[in-house]
Amino acid sequence: MKRGFWDKLPSPIIGISPMDGVTDAPFRLITAKHGSPHVTITEFTSVEGICHGSVKALIAFKFDNIERPIVAQVYGIDVESFYKSAFVVAELGFDGIDINMGCPATSVSSRGAGAGLIRTPDLAKQIIRTTKQALKDWSEGKKIEDVDLPKEIVAWVKEHQPQNIERHLLPVSVKTRIGYSEITVEEWVKHLLEEEPANICIHGRTLKQMYTGSANWEAIGSAAKIIKQTKTTVMGNGDIHSMPEALEKIKTYGVDGALIGRAAFGNPWLLKNLTPTIEEKFAVAVEHAELYEKILGADYFVPMRKHLAWYIRGFSNASELRQKLMQAKSSQEVKDILSVETLQNVTPVI
Ligand SMILES: Cc1cc2nc3c(=O)[nH]c(=O)nc-3n(C[C@H](O)[C@H](O)[C@H](O)COP(=O)(O)O)c2cc1C
Repeated sequence: MKRGFWDKLPSPIIGISPMDGVTDAPFRLITAKHGSPHVTITEFTSVEGICHGSVKALIAFKFDNIERPIVAQVYGIDVESFYKSAFVVAELGFDGIDINMGCPATSVSSRGAGAGLIRTPDLAKQIIRTTKQALKDWSEGKKIEDVDLPKEIVAWVKEHQPQNIERHLLPVSVKTRIGYSEITVEEWVKHLLEEEPANICIHGRTLKQMYTGSANWEAIGSAAKIIKQTKTTVMGNGDIHSMPEALEKIKTYGVDGALIGRAAFGNPWLLKNLTPTIEEKFAVAVEHAELYEKILGADYFVPMRKHLAWYIRGFSNASELRQKLMQAKSSQEVKDILSVETLQNVTPVI
């Protein structure tokens, strides 16, 4: 089994969890700079979208070298589209590819993708096998031009790929849940292990639970016992609020590491177990807004606003500040709102 960068990570492994609409390129860059996760995974992107020529789908694949090791996450149902999309990921210089088998959103799972794959293990295995084959073919010299991708996708890749890209075998990992409607994680991971993924990350909820209830770490632990008998590494995920909690869960449930998601909203420092000052929070909120404009363009600033609200959580007059930030249309406006004068008037709520 070729595990690529997964073999070079520190122990335990602490990574930032992929989150659609959140872990875009500016967020990942800010998190890399101020949180230094050991591994970063992009938002998920549809393989069918890529193969139908959706250049928009590739925006999720913009990244900066500071994020390395950086893994591209894909989802879908069509095996051939996984084969072709693997060439896009490899040509863009990613360190690995992660297959989403955990998304519970109806738009994804009702067509059998994401967590829907838990119900079709044979297809899930075929997807891993095919993605691995594509990466092997690419590492042995097969070109992106040879896999019948839409020309606009190939052109985008050529425009955004790093120079002098070195062909090597990229590792394939899987992120999933503990079951579909019931907990079936032991049986499910045994299926996945047949295809020898480099890493399996398990979110401790079933598809049916969506994000309700709490993550079942006992179930993660029981799957970890099985995975630990192989060369595949296992990470746990769900409801981790701090680094001490992450380390405690890793130890208690016998996993190799953990992915942290929502707790890192507006708080990249969490991954370093640091508590920032208000001044630092303001400065990074502005930096994040500037990167947002630079990387994703100045035309549509609205998605940045939720991040701004996260940065100012827990301040004495947060609601007033939030109202202003929710109207901001540019990083300059954010800078004006989060001014030295504002700074003097806020205090953290203990
Ligand atoms: C807004 C949002 C978007 C998400 N998008 C993805 C995604 O694209 N791919 C994925 O594997 N998981 C996705 N997830 C699930 C998270 O990666 C993670 O498994 C989940 O939030 C539980 O971890 P946490 O409690 O640390 O947040 C998403 C979660 C949220 C809240």
